[in-house]
Amino acid sequence: MNKPPLSIAVCGLGTVGRGVLEVLKRNADIIEQRAGRPIRVVTVASRTARPEVDLLGARFTTDLNSVIDDPDIDLVVELIGGETLADDLVRRSLAAGKHVVTANKAIIATHGDQYLEMAAARDLVFGFESAVAGGIPVIGALSRGLSANRINWVTGIINGTSNYILTAMAQSGQDFATALADAQALGYAEADPSFDVGGIDAAHKLTILACLAFGIGMRFEEVYTEGIETLTIDDIEYARQLGYRIKHLGIARQTHAGVELRVHPTLLPEQQLLASVDGVMNAVMINSDAAGDTLYYGAGAGGEPTASAVVADLIDVARGCAPRWWVPEAGPDDAVLIPVADIECACYLNIPSMDKPGVFARAATILSDHDISIEAVIQKEQAVHVDVEQSWVPIVILTHKVRERVMNEAIAELEALPEVVSPIKRIRVEHFV
Ligand SMILES: NC(=O)c1ccc[n+]([C@@H]2O[C@H](COP(=O)([O-])OP(=O)(O)OC[C@H]3O[C@@H](n4cnc5c(N)ncnc54)[C@H](OP(=O)(O)O)[C@@H]3O)[C@@H](O)[C@H]2O)c1
Repeated sequence: MNKPPLSIAVCGLGTVGRGVLEVLKRNADIIEQRAGRPIRVVTVASRTARPEVDLLGARFTTDLNSVIDDPDIDLVVELIGGETLADDLVRRSLAAGKHVVTANKAIIATHGDQYLEMAAARDLVFGFESAVAGGIPVIGALSRGLSANRINWVTGIINGTSNYILTAMAQSGQDFATALADAQALGYAEADPSFDVGGIDAAHKLTILACLAFGIGMRFEEVYTEGIETLTIDDIEYARQLGYRIKHLGIARQTHAGVELRVHPTLLPEQQLLASVDGVMNAVMINSDAAGDTLYYGAGAGGEPTASAVVADLIDVARGCAPRWWVPEAGPDDAVLIPVADIECACYLNIPSMDKPGVFARAATILSDHDISIEAVIQKEQAVHVDVEQSWVPIVILTHKVRERVMNEAIAELEALPEVVSPIKRIRVEHFV
């Protein structure tokens, strides 16, 4: 083997950084064979030295600048996380003529267009296979395996924490707070879980998937985002009675009018493959014109699964076959994104109502006045909730497809009924057929 090694710096010695070193060490022989040359870790840069970690002969430094200034380093792996410092490291590394590989979806979803431009202008690689769905090679699927296709839609369970919580609620009957506390105790959720349960993390990943699928820029700010915080065991149970599971999905869909980008809890028919993806697992489903439906399932996080994707990018760079991403021709501001008010969706409505006769009839009339047809109803005969003032019952209605702004008007009218005691829960329904 005559080619010189690919010399890299690993920045960040946390969960993923350690995983990368471990995979590079354990699989050194096959990695070198597949890369066509050795991948040599020259420097490990992080805040805290970890004497227990085998640095594979690399020098350790806390000085990130020394990595950027080192002419012997061909490629910088950014695994620090956060935004400001990581963004600075990526930009300065590219400006210094180094390839960059990162797992940092937050900075890609917000500044990725600029990184791609910088890399393209310098004939460098900006690799981010690990930024979406951890060990699942979905970036590779979009960039290589499906590159002959027009993509119709991409959807997925792309946040393991939310999926773990929803699974625990469905299978163990835990309420949201208990399931979240368990997820934290097991290390599946951060001390501050808001990025995960609020949908921000999934919106970052969806932004990246949509950019690749539809050639639009990174439009994170425009992703419609709802988390799972307000879901109750009752919602999960009513959905089950109707033949559905509730999953937290990212959905990017190309329509004639433009691209839909949304993250929200979704009722999925129980026989839909994504409906049976449980626990911390992730899955992404892509529908394209030639290949049809393809499904990708696996570990969406964790040191070694994520390292698997990081090292795959390193091997691609070493072999000289990493994708040089196209910079979207339309530009970030030109591609039309459809406001959520203009999407069409079937809906699950949970209407908390006074336990009085005639309420369902009034609700049905309001829906009918808006041309919203009802597919199924669950109406409890007896009060199931007794609050301080009065007892109330949920009226659960599944509608046929309706434009969101029409549904918004109908919900406003329903909530104005004196018998409706608190805000109506609306969960969108998708079939993906
Ligand atoms: N964990 C996953 O499963 C996963 C999956 C996909 C993507 N990602 C992404 O991968 C990246 C890394 O995640 P992680 O879970 O490995 O994070 P982590 O465990 O928190 O590790 C971050 C590392 O960066 C170091 N660091 C933080 N601030 C620094 C600074 N100012 N200067 C130098 N080093 C600094 C930390 O040092 P200390 O050791 O002193 O804390 C730590 O070693 C993130 O962008 C994350 O979103 C993670």
